[in-house]
Amino acid sequence: MKLVVGNWKMFVGTQVEAEVLVRSVKKAAGKASAVRVVICPPAPYISRLARIAPSVIAVGAQNSSHEAKGAWTGEVAATVLKDVGATHVILGHSERRALGETDAIIARKAVLAVKAGLTVILCVGEKDRVGEGGEQYAFVRDQLLASLEGFPSRGAGSLVIAYEPVWAIGSSAKRAATPQDCREMVVLIRKHLSGLFGQRAAFATPILYGGSVDEKNAAGFMTSGAADGLLIGRASAENERFSAIINLTQKISS
Ligand code: PGA
Repeated sequence: MKLVVGNWKMFVGTQVEAEVLVRSVKKAAGKASAVRVVICPPAPYISRLARIAPSVIAVGAQNSSHEAKGAWTGEVAATVLKDVGATHVILGHSERRALGETDAIIARKAVLAVKAGLTVILCVGEKDRVGEGGEQYAFVRDQLLASLEGFPSRGAGSLVIAYEPVWAIGSSAKRAATPQDCREMVVLIRKHLSGLFGQRAAFATPILYGGSVDEKNAAGFMTSGAADGLLIGRASAENERFSAIINLTQKISS
């Protein structure tokens, strides 16, 4: 089973637009029995979309709080997201890390989210690739381990890792990574997960690729790139492109 996650970011700006998009994604997902589809809309739409989507698509949040409850203006607790129908939450996205979220904050969020019953989609990825020294491997290892500090091993079944090299994400991306870049990191991440949670859990944890994924390069990350699925930003907010990616994911999985 492949996992395809759409991170709508702030690309979808009205409830009508969100509903139209989710209905068409639902159609594509309905024909893709080998693909688990999760969409992560802006938080206020979660409740409504979770009611339209059930069983065919799962609905996730793009962030959750580092605190469980209390005087935290503007924060949304993982328990609240769960209560309104979210099943997943993206944590540690580079666009949030750029706003000042540290590994320690992300680790607290992850513990609370899994405790609330959400599946955590934890993003890791190096900022840049300079030099030939392989610095990116140590960077991703450190980020992964620090972001999973305190994460309970019994929660390992509710964990997804997304490898998203920052230089490949969003409108300022230089290029997508190559399937080879992806494969190396999948192996590395799996090795460290194995150290944390044991080999069995590590092999059961989906590792996704994200960063400038489109209809043309998507398949390569899951075939030669060894990824268990994709985390898609821009293209997930465009009906035809996202549906095309779901279709081709089904094709390579069946
Ligand atoms: P992108 O974003 O597909 O638009 O590069 C990926 C992400 O930020 O998750």
